[in-house]
Amino acid sequence: MSRNVYLPYSVTSEKAHIKSMEQYREMHKKSLESTAQFWSEIASQFHWETPYDVNNFYSYNFDVTKGPVQIKWMEGATTNVCYNLLDKNVRNGMGDKVAFYWEGNDPEDYSKITYKKLLEEVCRFSNVLKSKGVVKGDRVAIYMPMVFEIVIAILSCARIGAVHSIVFAGFSSDSLAERMADCKCKVLVTADSVYRGDKLLNIKSLCDIAMDKAKNFGHEVPTCIVVRHLPRLYRSMNTSNGTNGSNSDIIDLHSDVPWTDGRDYWWHDEMDDVEPSCYPVWMSAEDPLFMLYTSGSTGKPKGVLHTTGGYLLYAATTFKYVFDYHPGDVYWCTADIGWITGHSYVVYGPLANGATSVIFEGTPFYPDNGRYWSIIEKYKVTQFYTAPTAIRALMKFGEEPVKKHNLDSLKVLGSVGEPINPEAWLWYYQNIGQERCSIADTFWQTETGGHVITPLPGCTPMKPGSASFPFFGVKPILLDESGKEIEGVGEGYLVFNKPWPGMMRTLFGNHERFQSVYFSKFPGYYCTGDGARRDEDGYFWVTGRVDDMLNVSGHLMSTAEVESVLTEHPDVSEAAVVSRPHPVKGECLYCFVTPNHGVTFTPKLSSELVKKVRESIGPFAMPDVIQHAPGLPKTRSGKIMRRVLRKVAINDREVGDISTLADEHIVEELFKNRPEKS
Ligand code: WTA
Repeated sequence: MSRNVYLPYSVTSEKAHIKSMEQYREMHKKSLESTAQFWSEIASQFHWETPYDVNNFYSYNFDVTKGPVQIKWMEGATTNVCYNLLDKNVRNGMGDKVAFYWEGNDPEDYSKITYKKLLEEVCRFSNVLKSKGVVKGDRVAIYMPMVFEIVIAILSCARIGAVHSIVFAGFSSDSLAERMADCKCKVLVTADSVYRGDKLLNIKSLCDIAMDKAKNFGHEVPTCIVVRHLPRLYRSMNTSNGTNGSNSDIIDLHSDVPWTDGRDYWWHDEMDDVEPSCYPVWMSAEDPLFMLYTSGSTGKPKGVLHTTGGYLLYAATTFKYVFDYHPGDVYWCTADIGWITGHSYVVYGPLANGATSVIFEGTPFYPDNGRYWSIIEKYKVTQFYTAPTAIRALMKFGEEPVKKHNLDSLKVLGSVGEPINPEAWLWYYQNIGQERCSIADTFWQTETGGHVITPLPGCTPMKPGSASFPFFGVKPILLDESGKEIEGVGEGYLVFNKPWPGMMRTLFGNHERFQSVYFSKFPGYYCTGDGARRDEDGYFWVTGRVDDMLNVSGHLMSTAEVESVLTEHPDVSEAAVVSRPHPVKGECLYCFVTPNHGVTFTPKLSSELVKKVRESIGPFAMPDVIQHAPGLPKTRSGKIMRRVLRKVAINDREVGDISTLADEHIVEELFKNRPEKS
């Protein structure tokens, strides 16, 4: 075993679900060799209205040359995910247990909801959706802040068999419009406004623009249901310090919300006179549960589709083992529900285990940089799950804000979204985990539905920066460029040749694209798009994307989507975007822009372009650098040589062989044009 290996959590490890690597290996072996038996034992803990058949538990084809790619688990069985998350727990005597603590943007603003109350609210909203004509299979778009109603909306969809399609509320109106038109949603659920730090965002106005734009894409959203969130915030600010807001403000804010009669409805009005009970719709295990858009390397987002039975099993099982969840724990995942991490590990995984979790609406920096640590202390959080970019941003403030808080309740710390650099890992381990907690560096994707490579607390000796070993049912494979499997130590394409229950089934309305994006490069394998290395101890180290995707603060985006926004500007002839390492964001956008003939590149143009990307995609996609490029380094066949641009971005003159370029001089020009000295 190499040096720098950490195995903490020893004090509590006798309580851990997986107590040793031997036990892990044995269970992992069983999960691969007796797959149906392994997962059916887990499935037996859930309610099935029509039972599954252990002898016909799953089937798949990953080889495009042998027919369409397909993945099926427990086909023929029926269940309801919402029933398993709520009714089952309430029936088991957990009705009064807190499902979620809610911590608002303002620290004075907090509340909680029990399993029983959550079920009641979900039933009510299910009835509201039904009253708007939503039936099994219909899509419901959700664009909301981190409030209880987003969870209620999600579970109501699951209860009546509607497919939720959540769009992260940091996306622009353009992005929302495109996604709503693609999934042809029958309803959009949103809120009036939300505070982010001290900034007020009127998200309903943004939804109105998006619903208008969706018409241009050929889809008219028939119904929009709006949570009145802002007056609630004002009310609490009013009672907490008496200085902000007043009743008249509340009324003004209410009437300020743009409204279209016949289409828009207030959530609270609709919830007023509906029944607090609603019989669940029994869904086939392979019926869609939800879709979630993720960036595609061609620029058009892909609607990743997850189904009912397999996703439920996988979200529940990964949550239990990866966070070593035990009754009595208080779990907190900081991810927004609009991303897959929020789907699987704020909503589905925790509720499937009857857990108590924290939902946080705000940011780590408001009202001060100790906010995360104060929340951990306030709720005595036992498992904390966040992203490397947040850790790096908080590291900058040193240990002082951390030391002001008691973090003794913590047992497990999670990381997700991008490779965690060893420096951030160690800071997290030492200062937040006090060298006592396990760190779960969880590698996974929107497409995988849940964790696929991750350490298990109390069991896996940890190496900072390595996601370590596969979860149950998962066998990672590394392929070389020719598609040959690499045995032992080596680096290559990270792929899988068999499915686990929580894997996506298709791309919504586009099975062709599903096959071509993920299964055509190496027939027989699902291609993650990431590279990975296996070391001498068998640990996996994910090295990052091998395609034209960027990961900015854990948000995946394609160079193509940013380039297409840049070239939409009337003064821009061509654009090429590459990623550059960034100390906090992990990667950032470095854009090369060639203006139209006769147009001068000015700081004004540059700032217009930054604004345009921000407005078209979302604030998280804001470019760090826009560089004037009199021309782009292209091969004679016209392909942009991005590796040269990546070198220019970091000012590294070791550009390698550029003899295939149509015009080699352009490279020197680009170095000369760098807007920064370093
Ligand atoms: C990257 C987020 C290394 C990876 C759950 C993947 C990671 C993409 C890790 C998926 C990790 C996520 N170590 N890389 N622990 N976690 N990634 O779909 O490139 O938003 O393919 O899902 O993030 O991003 P997505």
